[in-house]
Amino acid sequence: MGQERVLVVGAGAMGTQIGAVFALAGHPVTVQDISEDALERSQAVVRKRVGRLAEKGAIEAVDAEAAIGRMSWTANLEDAAATADLVVEAASERLDIKREVFARLGAAAPEHTILATNSSSIPSSLLAEASGRADRLCNMHFFNPALVMQAVEVVPNDQTSEATIETVLRLTEGIGKHAVRLHAEVPGFVANRLMMALLNEAVALQAQGLASIEDIDAAAKLGLAHPMGPFELMDLVGLDVVHDIQVAMHDMTDGDDPAPHPDVQRLYDAGHYGQKSGKGWYDHS
Ligand code: CAA
Repeated sequence: MGQERVLVVGAGAMGTQIGAVFALAGHPVTVQDISEDALERSQAVVRKRVGRLAEKGAIEAVDAEAAIGRMSWTANLEDAAATADLVVEAASERLDIKREVFARLGAAAPEHTILATNSSSIPSSLLAEASGRADRLCNMHFFNPALVMQAVEVVPNDQTSEATIETVLRLTEGIGKHAVRLHAEVPGFVANRLMMALLNEAVALQAQGLASIEDIDAAAKLGLAHPMGPFELMDLVGLDVVHDIQVAMHDMTDGDDPAPHPDVQRLYDAGHYGQKSGKGWYDHS
């Protein structure tokens, strides 16, 4: 049997790299987006990133070309869904958009197809009804940058079948990632709950004037051996993403988890999202 066919919905930074990860492991991959510009950028990013892996000797040049050759890009969701064995949705973090996407996927994909969302803040239980296949639905949460980060959180909703989780765990292992298996949904899952505790503390320390953002980042990197400091990490992930996750965690826990700190809110309101907008905590222009 050939490798499972994978459809990735959303050609942004996450969708593109998730697609490349599956293609590098031998899966035929289609990346779908409604924006032709996003599709073009996605192809260019794959060429650059997969090509770079070959340049630095991490993979053979012939394997890089083969991986790129296994990928295709399309604007047509229904056609791509019709031949998919696994769908990983990485579209906008908006419930209304995701519900529409999952309703269309549920209608267009074959019966056996597993639908997963890469969402970090929308649990699959909120998409169950729209998808019409709660038992073949879960979160499959990758980390940024997905080509590099080794973990994938696999999160069932309360109707996800054991067979679905077993298949998703096998596929995760097959792409060379470590599956972090959750036994039930919890806002932020595991990694973002840990990360938000760190980020909130970092923001509070600078707000109180206790240390500069550079020194707080240095403490995390040079004192705790984190690859990036919390402010650098917020600029990588995006202040928009950090903000949206914190709002979702706050709402889903009835206020037990904190709302975004006023300083995060200020950057968010100003559109200072970090690397993607040229300015966040740091200047990236
Ligand atoms: N995309 C793909 N590959 C990348 C990359 C990117 N954006 N950035 C770096 N890399 C790869 C490249 O292969 C690079 O080597 P080359 O450029 O020579 O090919 C290699 O990583 C090392 O990169 P650098 O030498 O430029 O820098 P580095 O050693 O500092 O590594 C990093 C960069 C991998 C991003 C590292 O700093 C890191 O691990 N940071 C922490 C990232 C992290 O915590 N991510 C999780 C965020 S939380 C999340 O994603 C969940 C959520 O829901 C919000």
